[in-house]
Amino acid sequence: MSQTLQAIRGMNDILPNEAERWEAFEETVRDWLFAYGYRPIRMPIVEPTPLFARAIGAVTDIVEKEMYSFTDSLNGEQLTLRPEGTASCVRAVLQHNLLYDGPKRLWYMGPMFRHERPQKGRYRQFHQVGVEALGLSGPDIDAEQILMCARLWDDLGLEGIRLEINSLGQPEERAKHRADLIAYLEKHIDRLDEDGKRRLHTNPLRILDTKNPALQEIVEAAPKLIGYLGEASLAHFEGVQRLLKDAGIPYRINPRLVRGLDYYNLTVFEWVTDQLGAQGTVCAGGRYDGLIAQLGGKPAPACGFAMGIERLMALIEAQGELPEPPAPDVYVVHQGEVAERLAFRAAEALRDIGCAVLTHMGGGSFKSQMKRADASGAQLALIVGDDEAQNDEVSVKPLRIEAEQRRVSLERLAEVVSDWLYGADEELNED
Ligand code: HAM
Repeated sequence: MSQTLQAIRGMNDILPNEAERWEAFEETVRDWLFAYGYRPIRMPIVEPTPLFARAIGAVTDIVEKEMYSFTDSLNGEQLTLRPEGTASCVRAVLQHNLLYDGPKRLWYMGPMFRHERPQKGRYRQFHQVGVEALGLSGPDIDAEQILMCARLWDDLGLEGIRLEINSLGQPEERAKHRADLIAYLEKHIDRLDEDGKRRLHTNPLRILDTKNPALQEIVEAAPKLIGYLGEASLAHFEGVQRLLKDAGIPYRINPRLVRGLDYYNLTVFEWVTDQLGAQGTVCAGGRYDGLIAQLGGKPAPACGFAMGIERLMALIEAQGELPEPPAPDVYVVHQGEVAERLAFRAAEALRDIGCAVLTHMGGGSFKSQMKRADASGAQLALIVGDDEAQNDEVSVKPLRIEAEQRRVSLERLAEVVSDWLYGADEELNED
């Protein structure tokens, strides 16, 4: 026998119990985004490869080694499965001239692809909720986006997610810092690791973000970007912090927070938890004022963030009370051909009044069908035998409370069932 095919490593099936939790999460997220005036946008999953090289930066881990890229065999075009959403979102905004009548607040949700080494919290297909505000330049929107996140953690009942912020300043300020940083690192070149040596002249800022413990001492003593920020950049950073303090949101300035994508300037932030092991960043983002122009648009400021749904779901699982899988209201058991036809009509009649109905399929004795009805968690069983069916009647049997089974006509079924399902509740509420 041939072996069963497996999903690609790092790409996960999300099975029903989990998928239902995802849906509940998505509902909360939609309400939350609506409350802040964000509107949905959906972009393709495949984009031209140069979009990501231009937006994310040619010398980043994502573009250098993590992209799923391929050549379209029909026309030779270079294509890539999107590793993130910001580049696509900006491309869509420019392509459709969405900024013509002012700033836009947009959000998207969906799968992203990065060819990373899979581990807990790090997957090759993962899902993000991405939030982008385009056309707004003040520190107020940066702060509002951070406040938003804090509210979502609250809405989701999550605790212990810490906020780290930093300012990356403007490109000129970074250039000066970069020159000094390279000069400093060159003095210590013998102590750098392979990655460090390779990045020394291409992306030295990323060396500060290294996880290699042997480099920590060098990194600690390196020139810090904050010392190179001019008045306007510092004022922007202070503006963000003022609003965070007003809102009572605790934060830590992390001077080594540099982000793995090159498009950022000024404010960057990450929300981090200690409860997920090595992959503790559940949400990250910042300002990217240069990206719109870089992708060919009329210069316009922007900022945004994205959260990793798998990581948030893992946190919800670790911290929250998991809901029971939903049960149908009614399970329909039936035997015989006439009964089957009536069972179908009865089930549809109940769906007409909003009931969730599971109709037994696959035959079997009444006894075995009733076992299924009980296991389904339904409140009521609808029993249709040929005898009932001859008279256009069905029997309704409560499964969760002590009460007599009742035989009713098909016409009265909806009324009786809704009394049982909803009327009983009302009586309980009145007590
Ligand atoms: P990012 O930091 O690359 O930023 O990803 C955002 C979040 O996606 C991470 O904090 C993490 O929760 C999740 N994530 C990233 N890679 C993986 C992975 N391999 N497996 C599981 N989860 C992962 C961005 O993508 C930017 N586009 C965010 C942004 C939007 N900046 C401005 N606007």
